[in-house]
Amino acid sequence: MGILLLLCFSLIISFSSGADTIYANQFLSGNQTIISKDGNFELGFFKAGNSSNYYIGIWYKKVPFNPPTVVWVANRETPISDRFSSKFKLKDGNLVLLNESNTPIWSTNMISTATPASVVLHDDGNLVLLYGSSSSTPIWQSFDHPTHTFLPGSKLGYNKRTNTSHVITSWKNKEDPAAGLFSLEIVQNTKRYALKWNRSVEYWTSGPWNGRFFSSLPDMAVPYIYNFSYIDNANESYFTYWSTNHSVISGMFLDVSGQMQQQTWKESSEQWYLFFSTPKLICDVYARCGAFSICNQQTSPFCNCLTGFEPTSQSDWNLSEFSGGCVRKTKLNCRVKEEKPEFIVSFVPVKYLPASHENEIPSLDESACRRSCLDDCSCDGYSFFLERCRLWNNENLNNISFVFVSDDSTVRKFELNIKVASKDIQHPINDIHKKNDKEWFFSSVLFFL
Ligand SMILES: *[C@@H]1O[C@H](CO)[C@@H](O)[C@H](O)[C@H]1NC(C)=O
Ligand SMILES: *[C@@H]1O[C@H](CO)[C@@H](O)[C@H](O)[C@H]1NC(C)=O
Ligand SMILES: *[C@@H]1O[C@H](CO)[C@@H](O)[C@H](O)[C@H]1NC(C)=O
Ligand SMILES: *[C@@H]1O[C@H](CO)[C@@H](O)[C@H](O)[C@H]1NC(C)=O
Ligand SMILES: *[C@@H]1O[C@H](CO)[C@@H](O)[C@H](O)[C@H]1NC(C)=O
Ligand SMILES: *[C@@H]1O[C@H](CO)[C@@H](O)[C@H](O)[C@H]1NC(C)=O
Ligand SMILES: *[C@@H]1O[C@H](CO)[C@@H](O)[C@H](O)[C@H]1NC(C)=O
Ligand SMILES: *[C@@H]1O[C@H](CO)[C@@H](O)[C@H](O)[C@H]1NC(C)=O
Ligand SMILES: *[C@@H]1O[C@H](CO)[C@@H](O)[C@H](O)[C@H]1NC(C)=O
Ligand SMILES: *[C@@H]1O[C@H](CO)[C@@H](O)[C@H](O)[C@H]1NC(C)=O
Repeated sequence: MGILLLLCFSLIISFSSGADTIYANQFLSGNQTIISKDGNFELGFFKAGNSSNYYIGIWYKKVPFNPPTVVWVANRETPISDRFSSKFKLKDGNLVLLNESNTPIWSTNMISTATPASVVLHDDGNLVLLYGSSSSTPIWQSFDHPTHTFLPGSKLGYNKRTNTSHVITSWKNKEDPAAGLFSLEIVQNTKRYALKWNRSVEYWTSGPWNGRFFSSLPDMAVPYIYNFSYIDNANESYFTYWSTNHSVISGMFLDVSGQMQQQTWKESSEQWYLFFSTPKLICDVYARCGAFSICNQQTSPFCNCLTGFEPTSQSDWNLSEFSGGCVRKTKLNCRVKEEKPEFIVSFVPVKYLPASHENEIPSLDESACRRSCLDDCSCDGYSFFLERCRLWNNENLNNISFVFVSDDSTVRKFELNIKVASKDIQHPINDIHKKNDKEWFFSSVLFFL
C-alpha cells in the first residue's frame, strides 16, 4: 500500500507539472491529467453529475471544473468505477484504457506493428497519437473520432478513401456520455448536414453549402468569431471552421435535447452564452418526448404525458432524458372490448403533424372507426377527420407538439382519441364508485390543423 501511494505520488508530480504528452513508459491514473501547451484543454478522468462512473475525457482547462465542460470522451460506452486503479497508456501500438483488473476496455484500435512514441494533447483540443517526432503524421487523432462536440479546427465530413464519415452523437443523458439518440452527420454525396433521430429520421438539415454559408443558416454570413470553409477534393469532403480570435473559448455541442448548440464562454460573467441552436425550438426535435407524450416549449419540463399516462422511467425524466416517453398508468385488458357509457373527454389543444399516412383504414363513419380501434389490441387510438379514419399506435404517436392557438372557432379541429383505463381519468363519479381496471375509455385530445 505504501509503495503504491509513493508510486502514485511520484507520477502526480510528473504530470501535474503541466505536461501535454504521455510517453510510452508512462500512464495516467486517478486524478492525474495532461494539459495542452497554452493551457486551453485538459485530459483526464472525469465523472458527470451524481453518477459514480468515470470516463477519460478532454475538457476546457480555463472554464471552472465543477462541472467540467467536456468536449470529447474516450470510453463513452464503457465506464470504470475506480479511476485510481485504472490506467490510460500506450500499449501494443495503441492508446488504451485498462480497467481495475488490467483489462483493456477502450482502445484506438489501430492495426500497427510499430510502437507509438507518444500521445499529445494540442491546444485546439485534438489528442494526437504519434509514432515518430512531433512533426510526423498522426496515426490516430481524436478529431477523426468526435463524440458530441464539433470543435473549431476539426473537420466534419467524409473520407472518400476509407469511406468513413464523422458522426457527432449526443449523450444519453446529462450523467451518461454513452451515444444517445441524436446525431449530426454529412448527407453523403451532398454538401449538406443533417440532424437525425436514431440514425434514421432526419429532423433538421443545414441545406446545401453555397460557398459562404449553408442555405438554412444565413446567419453564418454575419461576421462573428469564426471563419467557415467547405473543402471537397479527391480524398475528402468536409466542413470546417476556425476561430478568428484565439482567446475566445467556444464550441458546437450536440446537446442531450437533440439541439446543436453554439456556446461561447463569457469570462466576465463566468457563464456559457448560447449563441445559436438548431433546430431553434426544442419541440422541433423529432420524438423529443417519446410516445404518448406532448412536447410544449412553454412548460417545465417541456414533456408531459397524455392524460392517463406516466413517464416510462421517472429517473430518466429526472435527468431530462424524455425519449423513453410515457406508458399507461393501468395496462389495458384487451379482452374487454366494450366502453362504458360515461365517456370522458379531456381537451388539449395541440398541433399534430402525423409522420405517415399509412395508418388510414376505410371506414363508413366515426362509430365504425372507433369500433375498429376497440377491436384491435394493437390500436392505441383513432382519429376521424375529414371522413378519414386513422388508427394510431406507439410508433406514430411519438412526435406530438403543443402549439398555442387562440380560441378561434373557425380553426379546424382534429381530434385524436386515445385508449386509457377509466380509473386513470379523473372523473367525480367514477373516482369514487368504480375502481375496476377492466373498464376503459377513449381519452380525447384536440388538435388544430
Ligand atoms: C489526488 O488524489 C490523491 C489521492 O487520493 C489526493 O491525496 C490528492 O489530494 C488529489 N489531488 C487533487 C489535486 O485532487
Ligand atoms: C445530485 O444530487 C443532489 C442531491 O440528491 C441534487 O440536489 C443534485 O441536483 C444532483 N445533481 C445533479 C447534477 O443531478
Ligand atoms: C474489466 O473489464 C473486463 C472486461 O469487460 C470485465 O470482465 C471485468 O469485470 C472488469 N473489471 C472490473 C474490476 O470491473
Ligand atoms: C467507397 O464507396 C464507393 C461508393 O459507394 C465505392 O465505389 C468504393 O469502392 C468504396 N471504397 C472503399 C475503400 O470501400
Ligand atoms: C432505433 O433503431 C433500432 C434499429 O435500427 C431499433 O432497434 C431501436 O428500437 C430504435 N430505438 C428507438 C428508441 O426507437
Ligand atoms: C490525397 O491523398 C494522397 C495520398 O495521401 C496525396 O498524395 C494527395 O496529395 C491528396 N490529395 C489532396 C487533394 O489532398
Ligand atoms: C477569415 O476570412 C476572411 C475573409 O475570407 C479573411 O480575410 C481572414 O483573413 C480570415 N481570418 C482568418 C483568421 O483566417
Ligand atoms: C478577442 O477576444 C477577447 C476576449 O473576448 C477580447 O478581449 C479581444 O478584444 C478580442 N480580440 C480581437 C482582435 O477581436
Ligand atoms: C425524481 O425526482 C423527484 C423530485 O426531485 C424525486 O422525488 C424522485 O424520487 C425522483 N425519482 C427517481 C426515480 O429518481
Ligand atoms: C415532428 O413534429 C414536428 C413538429 O410538429 C414537425 O415539424 C415534424 O415534421 C415532425 N417530424 C416528422 C418526421 O414527422
